Amino acid sequence: MSNHRRSMNPDERSRRGAAEGVTRRTLLQTLALTGGALSVGGISAGALAGKGGGKGPPPRYPLRIPPVVSPAGLSLHEGPTVTDLANGDEPMTMVWGYNSQFPAPTIVANRGDLASIHLTNGLQQETITHWHGMIVPHDADGHPRQAVPPGGSYQYNFAIDQRACLNWYHPHPHMHTGEQVFMGLAGAFVIRDAEEAALGLPSGSYELPLIIRDVTLDARGNFKFSTKSSGFFGQTPLVNGTLSPFVEVDRAVYRLRVLNGCNARVMWLALDSGAPFTLIGTDGGLLPVAVPMQQITIGPAERLDLIVDFRALAEGSTVMLRDVGSGWDLLEFRGTGQAGGGSVPTGPLSSITPLPAPVRERYFSFEGMTRINGQRYDLNRIDFQVPLGECELWRFETNGNGPHPVHVHGAYFQVVGRQGGRGRLYPWEAGWKDTVLVGDGETVEVLIRFDEFRGLYLIHCHQLAHEDAGMMANFEVV
Ligand code: C2O
Ligand code: CU
Ligand code: CU
Repeated sequence: MSNHRRSMNPDERSRRGAAEGVTRRTLLQTLALTGGALSVGGISAGALAGKGGGKGPPPRYPLRIPPVVSPAGLSLHEGPTVTDLANGDEPMTMVWGYNSQFPAPTIVANRGDLASIHLTNGLQQETITHWHGMIVPHDADGHPRQAVPPGGSYQYNFAIDQRACLNWYHPHPHMHTGEQVFMGLAGAFVIRDAEEAALGLPSGSYELPLIIRDVTLDARGNFKFSTKSSGFFGQTPLVNGTLSPFVEVDRAVYRLRVLNGCNARVMWLALDSGAPFTLIGTDGGLLPVAVPMQQITIGPAERLDLIVDFRALAEGSTVMLRDVGSGWDLLEFRGTGQAGGGSVPTGPLSSITPLPAPVRERYFSFEGMTRINGQRYDLNRIDFQVPLGECELWRFETNGNGPHPVHVHGAYFQVVGRQGGRGRLYPWEAGWKDTVLVGDGETVEVLIRFDEFRGLYLIHCHQLAHEDAGMMANFEVV
């Protein structure tokens, strides 16, 4: 056992003695604490541990950073694997991974690159992978009609020709997206371009991908899925597949590339210091200007590009990234005291041309947990057609069971209005978006234009239980 020990953080060493690694038993104790705490009236794990006789805070584990791969000649295999949620070297939790990784490898590409990706299905059920946010020909979009059986494979070839941004990839088979994403199949897909490079944003170890999601673990520490149509809400957060993570940070400016990878949970992100962070981008890349913020709402599948200034963080001091909604501590930043520098962008970042006046309007009512405009998804039905190159106004309205994170394949949109409910737009809804939260009683208006490809695409709710139950529609760009 001793030769399988992970490098522990100083807290753990002093608490348990250097001879004892993080064993399966300690992990299970942590899980019991977190699960137990949350099932008892929502008391946080930290609070419970604090009451537990002066043992100090629960152990925290080093944040996992997924390996980086190129999309050129990439093979991706979906299949069962094991992982260590404490990010050490003793895998003990069964998950489904891409190439045995949880989260999946981070695909990084430059604008202009060609992707050729070979997907193989090692699951016991059909699957297909969708590149969320990538504007690709319909035969590379991972439509559920393209799902392949166990043992099957699919070849994707597409050119990457869009702005720098953080996208992601995940399965998209009919009726099993929620289960497959929950079981661990999701990864980041980062696009870089010259406009972004010219800004000199924090990079290398100063740029962190953060895939935040929730999970429920059973007594053995394995993932426990529930197919409730009201959606999956887990008891414990994971960041990059790491339980109670920490990451060491220099006295430097950091760039956080945040994805809400939850099946259903909306999060309200804030730093426990109350310090502002700077929002520089959303789903489809950079905003025109940076916006200082203290709290940001992020729904399932939405992305945020955040700048956080740790230049004043002393050695040993900590700052916690929290979800104010659940009261969860998500990620602890620990100061190393080492100078790293960098600066917070203040000038213009990018230019975004507003879409022109729409030539027509469409209306989408997201009803209950299963329908759009009265209909459940039918794989073989084309629900509507959209002419290529014409700007349209799409109106999304909830009729119960919101919020619905509404997502469109094949084009980005601009959010231009919200009536009812919150009744306003927020800075994190600016820029190019592919997913927008529509709350109960709200009507959200977006401008959208399909400029690139004709063919079959999807609109759906990204609350994955809703999507799987039929809150999805096929449309054809003609
Ligand atoms: Cu992230 Cu249609 O999906
Ligand atoms: Cu998508
Ligand atoms: Cu929904």
